[in-house]
Amino acid sequence: MAATTPMASMAISTVVVMLLSSAMAAHASGGGEKADNTSLVMEACKNISGEPFKVGFLPEFCASTLLSDHRSAEAKDCRDLALITADILKVHAAAMVGKVDNMLREGGRIATKDKIAARALRLCRADYGGMVNTLQICYNIIQDFGRKGKHGPTPSELPECVEKTTNSIKDCTHEVCSTSVAGTMAMANEILEKLAIVSKALINLFLADKKDRN
Ligand SMILES: *[C@@H]1O[C@H](CO)[C@@H](O)[C@H](O)[C@H]1NC(C)=O
Ligand SMILES: *[C@@H]1O[C@H](CO)[C@@H](O)[C@H](O)[C@H]1NC(C)=O
Repeated sequence: MAATTPMASMAISTVVVMLLSSAMAAHASGGGEKADNTSLVMEACKNISGEPFKVGFLPEFCASTLLSDHRSAEAKDCRDLALITADILKVHAAAMVGKVDNMLREGGRIATKDKIAARALRLCRADYGGMVNTLQICYNIIQDFGRKGKHGPTPSELPECVEKTTNSIKDCTHEVCSTSVAGTMAMANEILEKLAIVSKALINLFLADKKDRN
């Protein structure tokens, strides 16, 4: 993602603080149905930025990602939010398969003139394609957790599954690092990586909450 200026990120933080406090107020006063759902998102995004998750970037990314998806309005708990982010990540990974295909188009500059970048991009394409498949499996694991009796997924399987996708993103970044497409791919991979981090943190938040209640 493009670096935001200090002024811009300060403005964003202010907006989020305002959103957070109004969401908390709505929650405290019972709120309407819509306010409750917004407060679930804001509270979850605030919680993953604190102990013990400490997602390095501020809660803005988490909140703006979730609030821009209409499914968040129906979310009941952090499992639902984790499922939404996992699905958004899958859609982004699938879009990257298409983007790389475009970059590698027969007769295009990279395919004909830059064999090194082309080889790296083919490996990235495999990484992204793998992510799409893996995320479908993760989605089912997250959904089945606690609902399939003793043969269902164990708690550690949930974050571990999403972690696999982080490895794929890192692999791609590594492949392209000294090629002409390093910059383009780094920008895209940074967003994917943030989505994977948020998704994994929301899963851990869901698991922690579940443990607290048992
Ligand atoms: C956020 O953390 C607070 C304090 O630990 C907890 O009571 C609350 O349930 C958490 N919210 C979510 C959505 O996980
Ligand atoms: C969110 O909104 C939906 C309907 O829009 C409602 O069914 C659901 O219970 C709400 N969730 C929370 C946590 O308030």
